[in-house]
Amino acid sequence: MFNIAVVLFSVLLVESRSDDIKLPSWFKIGAATSAFQIEGGWNASDRGESVWDHHLHVFPETLEGNADVACDSYHLWRRDIEMCQELGLDMYRFSISWSRLLPTGFPNHISEDGKNYYNNLIDGLLEKGIQPVVTIYHLDLPQSLQNLGGWANPLISKWFADYARVVFSLYADRVKTWLTLNEPIIQCDNGYNEETVPYLNDVKIGRYLCNKHALIAHAKAYRIYEKEFKPRFHGKVSMVQLFVWLQPATKGDEEITNLTRQYWEGRYGHAIYSKDGGWPKQLERHLARNSRLKGYPEPRLPPFSDEEVVLVKGTFDFYALNHYTTLLVRKARPGEEIGRWPLYGSKELGVVLERDPSWEKGDADWFSVYPEGIRKQLNYLKNTYGVTEFLITENGFFNTDPSLNDTRTVQYTRKYLEQVVLAIQDGVNVTGYIHWSLMDNFDKGYGAKFGLYSVDFEDQNRPRTARASARYYSNVAKTHSIHPEN
Ligand SMILES: *[C@@H]1O[C@H](CO)[C@@H](O)[C@H](O)[C@H]1NC(C)=O
Ligand SMILES: *[C@@H]1O[C@H](CO)[C@@H](O)[C@H](O)[C@H]1NC(C)=O
Ligand SMILES: *[C@@H]1O[C@H](CO)[C@@H](O)[C@H](O)[C@H]1NC(C)=O
Ligand SMILES: *[C@@H]1O[C@H](CO)[C@@H](O)[C@H](O)[C@H]1NC(C)=O
Repeated sequence: MFNIAVVLFSVLLVESRSDDIKLPSWFKIGAATSAFQIEGGWNASDRGESVWDHHLHVFPETLEGNADVACDSYHLWRRDIEMCQELGLDMYRFSISWSRLLPTGFPNHISEDGKNYYNNLIDGLLEKGIQPVVTIYHLDLPQSLQNLGGWANPLISKWFADYARVVFSLYADRVKTWLTLNEPIIQCDNGYNEETVPYLNDVKIGRYLCNKHALIAHAKAYRIYEKEFKPRFHGKVSMVQLFVWLQPATKGDEEITNLTRQYWEGRYGHAIYSKDGGWPKQLERHLARNSRLKGYPEPRLPPFSDEEVVLVKGTFDFYALNHYTTLLVRKARPGEEIGRWPLYGSKELGVVLERDPSWEKGDADWFSVYPEGIRKQLNYLKNTYGVTEFLITENGFFNTDPSLNDTRTVQYTRKYLEQVVLAIQDGVNVTGYIHWSLMDNFDKGYGAKFGLYSVDFEDQNRPRTARASARYYSNVAKTHSIHPEN
């Protein structure tokens, strides 16, 4: 049965010309943003302070500019919907600001203004036939909760679940695709390595506490939807994983690459997607041994209880994947200095991650264009977990060139989409692709130009202008051809 399905499935992808590769007709196209990166309106109405507001206001010198106004989507949401419509999108992925909806961080008070803002956005999209794909949490914790320990406090999973229940009760009648947490690996591993909010330096303990609490928080929210909302609204819920594809640098690095994949993806994915649940066994043993050798009485990666394993296991309706690039993995040389995790390696594993110098570079030192990586990764995830539906929730080119003629973004998107088609032909059920990003936005400053639309941050009206990539992408959305004749 399964093989026949795959064959039939591939027949649907018949190509009319060898250079005219088409996405299947049922394939959905979207673009993404996140609340803090675009909304501005940081003190509008009764909005509370988020960790980002706090950091940018207390340490204004550390990053270039703040996001008090950002793209001003708090006021310009109608234009954002219009852009989605110009692109012909099936989906728009945005996130809800916890501090805008629940100014204290707790459900004792729901902001009328916050509630209406997202009602307007959701209704406006649906009027144009665009499905809202909603991220409940995208790195912007209320500062009030950070003051209580944030993601290192086990109570956070309850606080998040309470917030998620409010979100579901307000919007689940109209929103059918839900994403609980965005990239918990960035939230925890980078957040506790001073690379993003809350900019704490606690890689030895804080990162691992956050890792476990993020999984429990996601699972509680998933179970709430499953029990209280799914029977009525029939939507889908998942968590967004960031996974840089990892390849062994040499034949001798295969085993360490396996362990490194467990460290990167397994530490966030295994508990949810695997048949056994819990931490990846080999990694758990490795980290427990490290803890012992360093004199800790217990493993720093907190074990799951049997109840927790059951709580978290299977809490997904599809695999939501953010993919940007590929890195090579090799064992560190004796005495070699390992750079800051995660982009350059891991001291816990004794590995170095680096670009293959032969690959085309993006505008960040870790960013390569290696389109085959996304196909390999999708196959790896399917084979590892047996997942039957994938949604690419982010993919885009790290461009710092503000030009409207963003040829490299067009090329990158085309090549990655081509590999997505090949992955579908391999039998991986990828049902949609969401580009990062709809428009340029705050990304620790305004230097990164991921946008299909450019935004003029010097102009108080924040005008948006379509780039060449927007024209390319609208052709993809309309024709499903990856090589549209422009
Ligand atoms: C909101 O913040 C802006 C700075 O971004 C400031 O100029 C304005 O006075 C603040 N408004 C209120 C009501 O506090
Ligand atoms: C790495 O893992 C794969 C399965 O993902 C396995 O087939 C392979 O044997 C492993 N390689 C080594 C060297 O451990
Ligand atoms: C792919 O996933 C969608 C959504 O879950 C489902 O409707 C479809 O049948 C799946 N296709 C295959 C070939 O498994
Ligand atoms: C855009 O740039 C490409 C090369 O990067 C060039 O071939 C093309 O003519 C440019 N298009 C416009 C409209 O400037």
